[in-house]
Parts: sequence; C-alpha cells; structure tokens
Amino acid sequence: MNEAELHRVNRAVKQWLQASRSFILGKMQQNLNVSEKTSRKDLVTNVDKENEKLLINKIRTFAPKSQILGEEGFGDQIKQTSGWVWVVDPIDGTMNFVKQHDHFAIMIALYIDGEGVLGYVYDVMNDVIYSGGPQIGVFKNDEPLSAPANLNLRDGLVSVSAPMLVHNYKNLQAVVEASSGLRVYGSAGIEMIHLLTGEIVAYLSYLKPWDFGAGKILAESLGLTATTVDGQALDMLSSDFVMVATVKAQQDILPIIG
Ligand code: IPD
Ligand code: CA
Ligand code: CA
Ligand code: CA
Repeated sequence: MNEAELHRVNRAVKQWLQASRSFILGKMQQNLNVSEKTSRKDLVTNVDKENEKLLINKIRTFAPKSQILGEEGFGDQIKQTSGWVWVVDPIDGTMNFVKQHDHFAIMIALYIDGEGVLGYVYDVMNDVIYSGGPQIGVFKNDEPLSAPANLNLRDGLVSVSAPMLVHNYKNLQAVVEASSGLRVYGSAGIEMIHLLTGEIVAYLSYLKPWDFGAGKILAESLGLTATTVDGQALDMLSSDFVMVATVKAQQDILPIIG
C-alpha cells in the first residue's frame, strides 16, 4: 500500500476506535446484558455484539470490497485471505469488562493478501491506542514506540493463560519457573501491550485469530516473534497455541516446551 493510502486508512481506523470507545463508555452507564457462550467462563455482552456491528458498519462503508472476520459473527465466513481482510475483536477481555469495568481492549487488524499491514490494540479505560505496522513502526497514541530490549527468559516477566498453566500444558510451569515471575492480565490485547512496552518478555496462550491478529502485526514490527508455541508460523484463519516473545526468550522457551 502506498504511504498516502496507509495514512488515510490509519486516520480512519483511529476515528472508528474513538467512536467505539465513546459508545462503550456510554453503555457502561447502563445495565449490561451478559450471557454465556461455551461455558460460565466464556461470556458475551450486548456491548460486544453492538460494538462489533458498529465497527463492521464503519469498515463496510470505508472499504466495501473487504472481507471481515469478527469474533461475534457479524462479519463474513472467510475461506481465503486474498485482498483486504479485517480482523475485529470488539471487546477483548470480556470477563474483565464484566467483572472489573477495566483492563479490556478493542482490537482491529488489516491484512492484505495474507500480510499484516496495520494493527490496533486500544486500551479503552486508559484511552491509549497502540497502532502501527511494518511500514510505519509502532505508536503509543502519537508517540513512536522503540523496540523493547531483547531480554532472556530469566531476566523478564512472563504471562500465560491460566488454564494452560493449571494443566501444565507442555511443561509450561517450568517456563514460568525459569522466568523472573508470572503476571496474568486476562486480555490478550492487554498482554500484547505489556510485550510491546517491554514489561513482559513472553506471552503464551491458546488464541483465536481475532485475539492475535493485531498484536502479531505490532509485535513483529518491533522485532518480537509471534509464532505457535512450537515456533511455527501462525495461520491467520486458525486458532492455535501462540507464543509472542522477545527473540531470546523464544529461544529459551522452545527447548523447555519442545
Ligand atoms: C479472551 C481473552 C483472554 C484469553 C482468551 C480470549 P475475549 O478474549 O483475550 O485473555 O485468554 O483466550 O478468548 O473472549 O474476552 O475477547
Ligand atoms: Ca469472547
Ligand atoms: Ca479476544
Ligand atoms: Ca472479544
């Protein structure tokens, strides 16, 4: 994409995100309508659904030929990744949204012909948008973000999904043991932010495309790795066990969980 087009898209997405934040803050003044999806630990609210519709309408008006992959199902059934593909998670960290009214994110990613072009993770309550991509670098609101230090596992904090840790998936407890310590935030978007800012050195979780689509673009644009936990390439249409990490932490973790 040429530079002018990239900036035009970038400006538009930031406006949608701000509209989306205002919408969510307004809805938080009212009672939430909460229901269970697959279990009592997997919730969805009226706000997740309505916000996905809001964002999808904006995308369809702006770029009608796009395909859209949205968590709550208001987008398209996507079978192939040619052309413009938007990936939307209208509220990432729904459990936090319901229980804490904080620590959740809106995430949007744009892939063109399977390549990550722009990613957005919006920390809604702190009003901070992490945005960018391989052509423009990564920004915290309007400030450029520098690459986090390439720390080893032993020198950094890690974040992992609680169920994977409890079941000691692939010896994950040994990974935590080998690190400086464990932090669990409960939103893939918020965990990605902690990676981008260098506050943690690795994040391992079972994730769906809308959980990792934006974070992968931002992480790779800052020299971090985003792969499966076995170090393989991620498929943007499939769920997988995902590891986002500094290059050194990834090299430390692979032999432990291999
Ligand atoms: C979830 C959160 C959570 C992660 C789950 C995701 P949602 O997203 O990111 O931290 O562990 O795997 O599904 O459903 O709240 O958008
Ligand atoms: Ca969900
Ligand atoms: Ca999510
Ligand atoms: Ca979600």
